[in-house]
Amino acid sequence: MYNETRSENRSYNAHAQLPTDFDLTKVTPLDSAIYDADVDFLSTLTGIKDPEELKQHILKVQADAYAVFPYPCIRNFAISKTKINHYPAYQDLLKLGKERKGAIFLELACCVGNDIRRAVLDGFPASQAVGTDLNAGKQTGFYPAFILKQRLTPFRVVSKGFWDVGHMLFKSTSETFPVKFIAGDILQPSFFDPQAKVEDSPPDLTTLASLTPLVGHVSAIHASSFFHLFDEEHQLKLAHLVNALLSPEPGSIAFGAHGGLPEKGLRVGSLKFGETSKPMTR
Ligand SMILES: C[S@@+](CC[C@H](N)C(=O)[O-])C[C@H]1O[C@@H](n2cnc3c(N)ncnc32)[C@H](O)[C@@H]1O
Repeated sequence: MYNETRSENRSYNAHAQLPTDFDLTKVTPLDSAIYDADVDFLSTLTGIKDPEELKQHILKVQADAYAVFPYPCIRNFAISKTKINHYPAYQDLLKLGKERKGAIFLELACCVGNDIRRAVLDGFPASQAVGTDLNAGKQTGFYPAFILKQRLTPFRVVSKGFWDVGHMLFKSTSETFPVKFIAGDILQPSFFDPQAKVEDSPPDLTTLASLTPLVGHVSAIHASSFFHLFDEEHQLKLAHLVNALLSPEPGSIAFGAHGGLPEKGLRVGSLKFGETSKPMTR
């Protein structure tokens, strides 16, 4: 399924290590009956106060997100809720934002940016926050309408990435929500070289174009529903990449939640590997 010798021009689908011939007709259609949202959070950020209007807005944008790539968590409305604020380590993140001068927060595999928006809303300085994800909308091509049922017109071309869909969901722009976003595949050395020299000072986030200049300079990393997309070998690789990004300063933290198992092995009904997990702290 995955070829370690894959090249920069990518003959694979970086999402979830899926092969390019992944059968999109097997994607489960969206279902508005399972609609779920953190209404206060969404209302605050979008300015939409009417619950029914908010629901219709979320359903519309959910279809756009599902068309970028049909992750089950999008179908389950993970994009209209937040996870990050439910972890004990969230308070440490907010504290770092207040107390550590210039602390950088990286939201890895940020998708539409719901969790990073929560942290900024709760006080983490926007100028010190960075979101990163694939921006593979252009590569996904055509999605036959029957996959997404009546929520999309036939053969809609998807040209957006998740971050752009996030601006639609939260009714923002890069001016009104100026958090830095960088698109790339974390497993590609041209986007992230963990062996790079640790620079004396942190990079200027406004001009950041890859993860490499962040090596050793990130005070807090949050990644959720991400590691379980990969096999054991690549989960281990991801853990090393996270470790390389994290600042050696005591109190630096990497946290999040991923699908797991009490004992290691392949998850039933899933493509990938599961294991127990622990937060990573300095
Ligand atoms: C299942 S979603 C989880 C999104 C969000 N973190 C959450 O908890 O709801 C997985 C995310 O990982 C991103 N992703 C998958 N493979 C990636 C890669 N190789 N590099 C960077 N991001 C990747 C996807 O684009 C997607 O946004």
